[in-house]
Amino acid sequence: MSQPIIQVNNVVKTFNVGGGFAKTETFRALQGVSFNLHAGKTLALVGESGCGKSTCARLITKVYPATEGEILYRGRNINEITKRKELLDYRSKVQMVFQDPFGSLNPTHTIAHHLTRPLKIHNQVSDASQIPAKLDELLDLVELAPDTLGKFPHQLSGGQRQRVNLARALAVGAEMILADEPTSMLDVSIRLGVLNLMQKMKTELGIGFLYITHDLATAHYIAEETAVMYKGQIVEWGDTQSILRNAQHPYTKLLISAVPDPDLPFGNLVQSEPDYSVNADKIRKTSGILQPESRQVGPNHFVRLWDNAA
Ligand SMILES: Nc1ncnc2c1ncn2[C@@H]1O[C@H](COP(=O)(O)OP(=O)(O)OP(=O)(O)O)[C@@H](O)[C@H]1O
Ligand SMILES: [Mg+2]
Repeated sequence: MSQPIIQVNNVVKTFNVGGGFAKTETFRALQGVSFNLHAGKTLALVGESGCGKSTCARLITKVYPATEGEILYRGRNINEITKRKELLDYRSKVQMVFQDPFGSLNPTHTIAHHLTRPLKIHNQVSDASQIPAKLDELLDLVELAPDTLGKFPHQLSGGQRQRVNLARALAVGAEMILADEPTSMLDVSIRLGVLNLMQKMKTELGIGFLYITHDLATAHYIAEETAVMYKGQIVEWGDTQSILRNAQHPYTKLLISAVPDPDLPFGNLVQSEPDYSVNADKIRKTSGILQPESRQVGPNHFVRLWDNAA
């Protein structure tokens, strides 16, 4: 495979969480996380609330630094990206799209404004006369009608707003999009449309995606690779199909058992294996223990070992 755009190597993130007078307690949100992001590919980062998914995205976008380990952008440690212009350039190449498509749009501005500004700031057009054609091209790419430009965010549906956010990432020249639960606030009926759009941006434009979700079922639509995370630790990772069809880690099986759709590729597992949710507490306990060792299951399928004794 080509050189990754982003490499996350053994990243630990601790937060200070108070602790009282003259002492600080720390919380390890990430306990040695590694993964790579490639152009034209999607990695799904899957896990339940609080496991550290958004923290990964915030570290990659330099909201705050890693406590240990390193994050490389095209081979360069992102800690070295400090000059204003370099930082602006990095943030335009590595963009975040959030769960709430309303929250990131300004209600007082039209969609045209939301898309024109990034085009100008990030020098995506050499002079202003090119802007109308560029706006039409962006809308066409994200499959929105041309008259969307004159509308305000509240005049659009949730799915349309998320398309505007994806268009905006394209407007700034993104090569990697970190999509943090991009469809979880959308109706089921329009969710697939947004996932299909991400898929198209990946295959036709070569955009790479980190697709953050708690929903393992949607990962198989768009992600070649999946990393399953629990308590700041990736417990199983590699080829999405291999993980879904041949899950090894009890926590992955627990997630799978929560998806009641027998039509999915892993539907059989749900039927043939015991109900993991019955043992959910024990599985969570064992899966939460820090475990440095892993083993290879398939050509691109790895699982962290676990301690059944917990
Ligand atoms: N700035 C912070 N200070 C202290 N603790 C934090 C901070 N940011 C995150 N955490 C803690 O780190 C853990 C991981 O948080 P994170 O937001 O990455 O979870 P998540 O997997 O994105 O969850 P969700 O699915 O609910 O969005 C949580 O326990 C959270 O409370
Ligand atoms: Mg989150």
